[in-house]
Amino acid sequence: MDKIRIIGGNRLTGKIQISGAKNAALPLMAASLLTEDTLKLSNVPYLADIVTMANLLAQHGTNISFSASAQEFGKNMSLSSQYINNFTAPYDLVRTMRASVLVLGALLARFGQAKVSLPGGCAIGTRPIDLHLKALELMGAHIELAEGYVHAHTHGRLKGSEINFEKISVGATENILMAASLAEGVTVLRNAAREPEVCDLAYCLQKMGAKIEGIGTDTIRITGVEKLHGCDYSVVPDRIEAGSFAAAAAITGGDVELIGARMEHMQAVAEKFTDAGVEMYETERGVRVIAKERIQCIDIITQPYPGFPTDMQAQMMALLCVADGASMITETIFENRYMHVPELTRMGAKIVVHGSSAMIRGEEELVGAEVMATDLRASLSLVIAALAARGETVIHRVYHLDRGYERLEEKLSACGARIERISERPTRPFSLTEAA
Ligand code: EPZ
Repeated sequence: MDKIRIIGGNRLTGKIQISGAKNAALPLMAASLLTEDTLKLSNVPYLADIVTMANLLAQHGTNISFSASAQEFGKNMSLSSQYINNFTAPYDLVRTMRASVLVLGALLARFGQAKVSLPGGCAIGTRPIDLHLKALELMGAHIELAEGYVHAHTHGRLKGSEINFEKISVGATENILMAASLAEGVTVLRNAAREPEVCDLAYCLQKMGAKIEGIGTDTIRITGVEKLHGCDYSVVPDRIEAGSFAAAAAITGGDVELIGARMEHMQAVAEKFTDAGVEMYETERGVRVIAKERIQCIDIITQPYPGFPTDMQAQMMALLCVADGASMITETIFENRYMHVPELTRMGAKIVVHGSSAMIRGEEELVGAEVMATDLRASLSLVIAALAARGETVIHRVYHLDRGYERLEEKLSACGARIERISERPTRPFSLTEAA
């Protein structure tokens, strides 16, 4: 397993190209199952999760090809699901990437059957899929849970239905958007997720011929059609990657332009950076982040979009570890999204967690240490802390990072960070003779 070594203390200056959003590309890839035509995606970030989704679709029978993108980062991808011959999403793929469950709605809508492994929990929470399943049952799917799998089938087409999500769910909204696009009749989703990545999927489905109204609001109306066709679609820039690099620039007192970032998708995050004393404004090419003064303490509560995103919580916590004063963060989306706290504490951070809230008492500086990545966004918070820490930090288990950040070291070192990846050779197993 690789690790990343960072020597802190350098200001980040210059520009960083923001890649396409992982959390938009994944459902967009699943949408290829809805048509026998070819779906052409551009600005697809080249990440471990994207490869996992490609492998999952390929074992269903989707024909996938990657090609170099005209831009410096990302890939073009062509997906053709004309001949789907396997309707099972196996445990070994689903457990490595929960977003695999997004094939469920599309397989049911087009083929009337699907056998999808239950994703199981992950580091940040139990992450059930009950909302996905309840909604599909309302649309006429027969669902049975057995041997760790969702066994689903329909008699004829799915039926349009009124669906009131008792909780806002990005994945459930996306699964039902895809299912309803080919259902018979009208589906109305209430309390739907409004994230830019959900909108990206809806816009692409519209380009494929779906009839969708209310995109970006909490009430979405889908009138099912018989067939969908292919289209060309470019993945929306990643607002979470942009926010992550903004925090990296801010903690180093830097000045970085995030090329391709869309300020309209980052309003809640930009407000918090501004409250913390960081200058953040729109430019012709994206968003510029300048930190001249010491970071000020602030309070954050994570919320569904357009509120402050849970996917930025760990990164902002790292930044607030060196703020002037005490900050409070409350995590309302996931029940266990503070795995980064003990690791940040190893670097000298003063953080106390009570239930879903964390109090961060800002320190003058952090000190480099050996730390371990536990989940995708937690691993980025350790990178951010390390960039400002005194001395050397080594981050283990960086495979978490590779799931969601394209060529991270390259992007950061181009702005002056002292960061390198070290490939960890497996250590020789302990031998008893050595002990003697
Ligand atoms: C998506 O996960 C993102 N992943 C997550 O990003 C993100 O943190 C999350 O949305 C919230 O914004 C992708 O898009 C691939 P949810 P998802 O359904 O869809 C509960 C990252 O770092 N819930 O909106 O799984 C759930 O437990 C990842 O990129 C149910 O109770 O999230 C959670 O508490 C991490 N039942 C809340 O709803 C359900 O059926 C929000 O989950 C579904 C969800």
